[in-house]
Amino acid sequence: MEHLLSMEDLSNDEIFSLVKKASQFKSGEVNVPQYKDKFVANLFFENSTRTKCSFEVAEQKLGLNLVNFETSTSSVQKGESLYDTCKTLESIGVNLLVIRHSQNAYYEELNNLNIPIANGGDGSGQHPTQSLLDLMTIYEEYGKFEGLNVLICGDIKNSRVARSNFHSLKALGANVMFASPEEWVDDTIEASYVNIDDVINQVDIVMLLRVQHERHGITGKANFEAENYHQQYGLTRERYDKLKEEAIVMHPAPVNRGVEIESELVEAPKSRIFKQMENGMYLRMAVIDELLQ
Ligand code: CP
Repeated sequence: MEHLLSMEDLSNDEIFSLVKKASQFKSGEVNVPQYKDKFVANLFFENSTRTKCSFEVAEQKLGLNLVNFETSTSSVQKGESLYDTCKTLESIGVNLLVIRHSQNAYYEELNNLNIPIANGGDGSGQHPTQSLLDLMTIYEEYGKFEGLNVLICGDIKNSRVARSNFHSLKALGANVMFASPEEWVDDTIEASYVNIDDVINQVDIVMLLRVQHERHGITGKANFEAENYHQQYGLTRERYDKLKEEAIVMHPAPVNRGVEIESELVEAPKSRIFKQMENGMYLRMAVIDELLQ
């Protein structure tokens, strides 16, 4: 694997291989390779807690040397382009870049780099490590993807998680449905939109998405009514109680408690939200190991 940019670039075999490697790191059944002579830089042009910190932990477990790059104190503030920033890091000996950026497909301008890129999220485009950790979490639960009914609820249009997961889950044989307010329907994805209450008792996985206020503009944010949204598209206690016995609840987080999901359900027995975060660190170890081979 040269880079990890989009779930659309991965075959099912590559997905299974990454999930398997992450599971082996988690169970301790394989030795963790050490890349003590390699350097990595994490370039986060958008805020992050989970992706940035779990990449950092994964990198340190793999023995990598972390270059301290902060966009706020870098020469990006003097107008240096993304390409020149990345080419500079390559020139001074960095072996791997992890990048999060608000621009969709920012990596298309980085074709001339000779070091691997792990995409930590591009605008509303893709979030491949999130999708892979979600797949790992689902596979841990069910041991398969084929035939699973997955309901993804919320801000579909602005969600790189929805886009990444729709593609990979479909490719792996799951049945993916969306539920969303009309203004957040994404016409570029050929998916079935359903009424959450028509299917909530039939799904194996319900995945809530964060309402992405930062992508709605001032008017969209001002017109948003949290309680109304919660009642129509959120996971309420009433809906949770209708879920099948073995169904699980997922959310990429950060969670707007009381909006996408009732606060007390975040750590309810069916919730795998913190398990997703735990798996994310192992999955990112697997991705880095693959990119540095
Ligand atoms: N799920 C996710 O990408 O979280 P962060 O924005 O905190 O990285």
